[in-house]
Amino acid sequence: MARSEDRGDGVEGPINMWVADPYFKTDEKIIEAFNYAVANGCTHYFPARGFDGHVLHRAIAQYYLDDMAVQVDPLGEVCPTHGAQEALSLSVQATTRPGDEIVVPEPTYSAFIDKLEAFGVKPVFVPLLEEEHWKLDIDALRSAVSEKTKMIYLCDPNNPTGSVCTRAELDALSELLKENKTVSLLIDECYARILYDGSAHHTLLDDRGLLDQLYVVSSFSKTYAMTGWRLGYLVTGRRNADRIKHLSEEYNGGVSYAVQYAGAAALARCSGSVRSMIEELDRRRRVMLGALAEVKDVSFETPSAGFEVFPDFSAYSRHTVRLASELEEAGVKTMPGVKYGPSGEGHIRLVFCAEEAPRISAGISRISEHLRARRG
Ligand SMILES: Cc1ncc(COP(=O)(O)O)c(C=O)c1O
Repeated sequence: MARSEDRGDGVEGPINMWVADPYFKTDEKIIEAFNYAVANGCTHYFPARGFDGHVLHRAIAQYYLDDMAVQVDPLGEVCPTHGAQEALSLSVQATTRPGDEIVVPEPTYSAFIDKLEAFGVKPVFVPLLEEEHWKLDIDALRSAVSEKTKMIYLCDPNNPTGSVCTRAELDALSELLKENKTVSLLIDECYARILYDGSAHHTLLDDRGLLDQLYVVSSFSKTYAMTGWRLGYLVTGRRNADRIKHLSEEYNGGVSYAVQYAGAAALARCSGSVRSMIEELDRRRRVMLGALAEVKDVSFETPSAGFEVFPDFSAYSRHTVRLASELEEAGVKTMPGVKYGPSGEGHIRLVFCAEEAPRISAGISRISEHLRARRG
């Protein structure tokens, strides 16, 4: 941020609409569980002697049973990972070789696109359209699948658009998988529990016939404000899970057991703090949407999930890398939409999790003023 002084709006410093990190404090129960585990000998290779070695695997299976009425085998089908990032990387590595293709409906999670480049795997982009409410176009997905396709990546709920797939969309995807038995579906559901306006998240894990083609990834980072703990997981069929565990072992020897123990406490004991965090996020979301509605010639879809709004600024500029850098000069740090795939161009991603409501209002005012001044 080039300048950080008060800009005459009574709000100090740069305003963060950039990092999707919920700067809420990790629940004390999670910290206590971690401290307990460390004090009681969970400082060795996993599993620590004297402890139930698979407490997190079982807590994850229980979550799927309680929240989605889905049975998963804790030891055979659940793999704890170093954040969702590792789970996504391992899923790609387990299924592809350089030169293979992954079909990617976009805009989507930018780090996944970066990952494909790092692994030499070709993304085949399928545009999602704002005028279609960012819904999946199943026919376009079907046309994008080729002999080289190993996987389809679906970010659901979607970062950056905040849209959530309907049951009908997932059923159509399930049909597509049944027609293409050599293609896997990687579903990134990191925001599955951060939902607004009564929206619901659905899962394909209820169809056990699909399990060997499914890689379902999630994270503790967002739901439990645990970004720095680096804890995520993957659910898949047993054979895939064995391969993932093998790869994970080769890289890093498994997730710290005390962190796994803390994760189990999060799932079992922290629904109250999750609810309070979502209520506060919803307040901030409404403040951001209310302020954005006043900005001339900027349109947006109301996000049903997650931490982000993805408004269309193309009436001002289609070069949003430049526009985001101008906004940074104007005192608001944002992400240019093109980072989320070619269809993101013309949009800017604004997060509402990193700042409190008054600073969110001030941030949108700064953006609005900059746009007015830019038009002259
Ligand atoms: C959709 C999505 N998937 C995965 C991740 C990474 O999560 P983790 O912190 O567990 O690696 C993020 C973080 O921003 C995300 O937004």
